[in-house]
Amino acid sequence: MEEALIRVKDLCKIYNPGENEVRALDHINLEINKGEFVAIIGQSGSGKSTFMNMLGCLDVPTSGEYFLNGTDVSTMEDNELSEVRNREIGFIFQGFNLISNLTAIENVELPLVYRGVDRKTRHKLAVESLTMVGLEKRMDHRPNEMSGGQQQRVAIARAIAAQPPVILADEPTGNLDSASSKEILQILKSMHEQGKTVILITHDNGIAAQARRVVRIMDGKIESDFINKNYGKEEYIKNQLDA
Ligand SMILES: Nc1ncnc2c1ncn2[C@@H]1O[C@H](COP(=O)(O)OP(=O)(O)O)[C@@H](O)[C@H]1O
Ligand SMILES: [Mg+2]
Repeated sequence: MEEALIRVKDLCKIYNPGENEVRALDHINLEINKGEFVAIIGQSGSGKSTFMNMLGCLDVPTSGEYFLNGTDVSTMEDNELSEVRNREIGFIFQGFNLISNLTAIENVELPLVYRGVDRKTRHKLAVESLTMVGLEKRMDHRPNEMSGGQQQRVAIARAIAAQPPVILADEPTGNLDSASSKEILQILKSMHEQGKTVILITHDNGIAAQARRVVRIMDGKIESDFINKNYGKEEYIKNQLDA
């Protein structure tokens, strides 16, 4: 069998070890295959963002193993970790994190500059990804000239421009109205359909129910992990989002 894209074994993260320690992740075991669309759901404080930081190579675990694309990243030093992160992962955050004095296309191109992509290729990749999120007519707009939903679409274009295999989205619709949330979910779904591995982190059942697989975490532990049989059924999706 093919090695899972993500393989997490007995992963623990303890903040403030000692008397006031917080077990934010408590022996997590999880495998995610290439091309899956997974929602990780849990209440506030359950460990979602800590887990995202581990999966995204933004932080290392206290103990346990994390294999990403066959490489053990749980023991890597910062410089190695940032290299893996740049190559493998596209991040989408709740707060968009766009640079306000840059246009949409400049925002999308910026991480490609850091990756050493030449100007012409940068431009081509940025145009392609902005077109994919439906913003081909807004490429020269700055963030304050766009709606929240459009800004998040720019952030998605930025995340996918370098074509990383994994998309990690932490509460990507947290700041959006329901119409914009639907658009964003539709884009994540279409990325999944194009073969990307999409991991969506949320506290919202209606949002999680849009994913193909739902992993629920509670107090730093996996509570359940199931395939959503209704995935892709339009009527079901509508009911979830209108609920
Ligand atoms: N840097 C930190 N130092 C100490 N405790 C932390 C830190 N980050 C998160 N925590 C604690 O770890 C637990 C999980 O937090 P977090 O991963 O942010 O949960 P979620 O994203 O699900 O709300 C919480 O109890 C939180 O208070
Ligand atoms: Mg969080």
